[in-house]
Amino acid sequence: MKERHGFSGKLGYVLATAGSAVGLGNIWRFPYLAAKYGGGAFLLVYLILAMTFGYTMIMAETAIGRMTQKSPVSAFASLTQNKLIRAGGWLNAIIPILIVPYYSVIGGWVCRYLYGYIIGQSQIMADEATFSEFLGSPITMELCFMVFTAMTMLIIFGGVQNGIEKVSKILMPVLALLAVAVVIFSVTRPGALEGVKYFLIPNFKNLSVMTVVSALGQMFYSLSIAMGILITFGSYTKKDVDIESTTIQVEIFDTVIAVLAGLMVIPAVFAFSGGDSAALNKGPALMFVTLPKVFDSMGGTWIGILFFTLVLLAALTSSVSLAETACSTFEDELGWSRSKSAALVSVIMIVLGTFSCLGFNVWAGFTPLNMDILSFFDFLTNSVMMPISAAAICILILKATGIKAIEDEICISSKFRRRKVFRFVLRYLSIALLAVILISSIADAFGLIKI
Ligand code: PHE
Repeated sequence: MKERHGFSGKLGYVLATAGSAVGLGNIWRFPYLAAKYGGGAFLLVYLILAMTFGYTMIMAETAIGRMTQKSPVSAFASLTQNKLIRAGGWLNAIIPILIVPYYSVIGGWVCRYLYGYIIGQSQIMADEATFSEFLGSPITMELCFMVFTAMTMLIIFGGVQNGIEKVSKILMPVLALLAVAVVIFSVTRPGALEGVKYFLIPNFKNLSVMTVVSALGQMFYSLSIAMGILITFGSYTKKDVDIESTTIQVEIFDTVIAVLAGLMVIPAVFAFSGGDSAALNKGPALMFVTLPKVFDSMGGTWIGILFFTLVLLAALTSSVSLAETACSTFEDELGWSRSKSAALVSVIMIVLGTFSCLGFNVWAGFTPLNMDILSFFDFLTNSVMMPISAAAICILILKATGIKAIEDEICISSKFRRRKVFRFVLRYLSIALLAVILISSIADAFGLIKI
C-alpha cells in the first residue's frame, strides 16, 4: 500500500489547520457581518457558538479522519453501509472542489489590490470606481485569478510536509504579527474609539434572529467545518496528537484573527465615516471599497501593502487546504498519483474559476437565483451543501459509529474535559441548528425573508 502523507507532528497539524481556518472568512467576511449584524452582540453570539457547536464539530471530524486514516468518501464508506449516509462523504469531498475555484477568484482580487499598492496607486485603489472597473474587465480578472491559482498549486505540488506544512509554519506567525500592527494603526486614528466600542460591547438591542443565523454560518465557514478538510487533516495526524487541545488552540487562533480583523476594519470605518449605517452595511465590498478609502485618508501606501499582504497570506493557506482535500480525494478514490490528482484539481479550478470571473462581465446577464456566478457558488456550497454535509457527519456519528466510538478515539490522547458539551451538542442541538441555517438561507435566496 502507498504510504499516506502525514504531518510531522502536533505543531505541523495545528498550524496547517489554523492556516485553513484563518482566511478570507476571518478578514473579509467576519468584519462585514459583524458590522452589519449588531457589532458586539454578533461577536458574543459567535463566541458562544464557536466554543460549543464549533468545538464539537471540529473534534468529531478530526476524530473520524484519524480513526479511519482516510479522506471523506472512504472514511464514510468504512463506517457505514447506509447509502444515504455514505452520500454525505461525497458531499464533504465535493464542497472543497467547488469552493476553491471561486475562493481563488477573490484571492485574485486581493492580488490586484496588493499590486496596486506596491506600484504606488494608493489613490486609485481608494476610488470607488476602481473596484467595479476591475470586475468589469475579464482579462485583468482572469490574470489575477490565475496568479493566485498558480501560487496555490505550487504549494500543493510540493506535498504535505514540504508544501503545506512548511508554508503554514512560516506564514501563520507572520500573519499574527502583521495583524497586530494594522490594528494598532487603525484603533489609534481619531474617532476610531466609537468603532471599538460598537464592536466589543454587546448592545442587545442589536440582537436579532439573523444575528444568530449569520453568526452560525460564519462560524462554520471560518473554522472550515463540514468541508472534508478536518477529516482529511485528521487522517494525516498520528495517534498521539491530543485532538482536544489542538482543537482549542485552532479555535482560539481563528477567533483571535477574526477579532483582530474586526478591530482593523470597524474602527477604521468609524474614523473615516463616523460609523453611519450606510458605511457599516457595505457588505462584501467593505474590504475592497471602504478600506482603501480609509487607508488613503490615513495617507498610507505602506498600510495598504501591509494589509493586503496579510490577507493574501491568509487566503493562500486556506485555498491550499481546499485544494489539498480535493487532491487527496482523487488520490484515495481513483488511486492516482499526487501530481496527476493535482493536475486535475488545477484544471477544475481554472474552468470553474473562469466561470466566476466571467460572471461579472461577459456573462453578467446570466444570474442564477438573481446572483452572479461567484455568489451562486458561494451560496450553493456554504448555504445549501454545508449544512447538509454537517448534518451527514452528525448522523454518521449518531446512527452508525455511535458517540462512544468517537469519544474513545478522542480519549486515546486527550483528557476530554468538555465531553459533556460534546455529547449535548451532538445529541440535542446539532441537527436542529443545521436545519435552521439551511431553511433560513434558502428562504433568503428565494426572497422569502431578508437576511
Ligand atoms: N475557513 C476559511 C476562511 O475563513 C475558508 C475555508 C472554507 C477554507 C472552507 C476551507 C474550507 O477563509
